[in-house]
Amino acid sequence: MNWRRLWCCCICKEKDLIRENKSKDCPWELYSLKEILHATNNFHNDKKIGEGGFGSVYWGRTTNVVLQIAVKRLKALTAKAEMEFAVEVEILGRVRHKNLLGLRGFYVSRDERLIVYDYMPNHSLVTHLHGQLAADCLLDWPRRMSIAIGSAEGLAYLHHEANPHIIHRDIKASNVLLDANFQAKVADFGFAKLIPDGVTHMTTRVKGTLGYLAPEYATWGKVSESCDVYSFGILLLEIISAKKPLEKLPGGMKRDIVQWVTPYVRKGAFDRIADPRLKGKFDRAQLKLAVMLALRCTDSNPENRPTMSEVVEWLKGGVEKRRKEVTDIQRMPQEDGDNGTDTHFEGSKMPQSDLKRERVATN
Ligand SMILES: Nc1ncnc2c1ncn2[C@@H]1O[C@H](COP(=O)(O)OP(=O)(O)OP(=O)(O)O)[C@@H](O)[C@H]1O
Ligand SMILES: [Mg+2]
Repeated sequence: MNWRRLWCCCICKEKDLIRENKSKDCPWELYSLKEILHATNNFHNDKKIGEGGFGSVYWGRTTNVVLQIAVKRLKALTAKAEMEFAVEVEILGRVRHKNLLGLRGFYVSRDERLIVYDYMPNHSLVTHLHGQLAADCLLDWPRRMSIAIGSAEGLAYLHHEANPHIIHRDIKASNVLLDANFQAKVADFGFAKLIPDGVTHMTTRVKGTLGYLAPEYATWGKVSESCDVYSFGILLLEIISAKKPLEKLPGGMKRDIVQWVTPYVRKGAFDRIADPRLKGKFDRAQLKLAVMLALRCTDSNPENRPTMSEVVEWLKGGVEKRRKEVTDIQRMPQEDGDNGTDTHFEGSKMPQSDLKRERVATN
């Protein structure tokens, strides 16, 4: 979809009625302002879900077809915000995957830019790991693993299946949303980049969020799919531990999550890495596999990082293998007292992590 054409199509055809355009080129809806205002009660403060860098997000319910929606409203029409809006609509219009947030439609006028998404009733990962819902601990271990796998699958789709390939550039906990079944949906494509065929990396202005940025990107602006892999590695550690990617230490120093996790890995104290709210209820072998994989993803050398499809394979392999082992053990007579928690699980083809990494400053 050509953005300029889309823009013209919105500006020129903007009317007071919803128009559905389900052609291949324009598979979303052009919402009317009236409909969105009605759905969000005129962007009432009570309906506000949250606020990001470029605008606020509101909950709404459409009445034509009864549907819960989330509406992102750009707060200022700066060139930057306009660009983010344009990129987000363009990218979301191109992609369809069970682990990517669905675009419902958008609205454009002289002084409003609105994007309408599917509403995600279980909010973002950040609310569960660090926010209002963290105390409830709704994310047990199997849920955490399935969220990690789902996010990895969404990213693998962007990197390997979308045409042209897409780099997200802002993978982080607040951009992983959870649907009614806690299925992960990667969101927020405002910083995404389309990668023309045959291009392996590009140099761009750095966008993204501190704590999640790959060192070569933060320092030199070198962007490639492996920058998303790095951010995913940080996210994976965050999912496991509920630690923030960057932590302020007394005295004002900052420590990133990899620096925090590395001594535990060296000592083999993997249990200490798990979120204490799990109260020890996690699969030790899966935990070890996930931590080692996260360290591979955050290797300071981008060439040593796995691809997202390898990440999916290893994570799924670990979960499937463990499921099978546990089932087999449950079927076996319990004569040797083995409780099925193998602390020495070797992830299939899982390479050894190089822990002697040199960390380039990410702040
Ligand atoms: N479709 C949705 N359903 C439910 N909540 C959503 C939806 N889209 C966004 N949100 C929530 O709205 C809030 C604001 O999102 P937004 O993406 O604007 O900012 P952010 O991710 O917190 O920060 P940043 O601007 O750095 O991306 C976040 O808490 C996010 O989880
Ligand atoms: Mg966001």
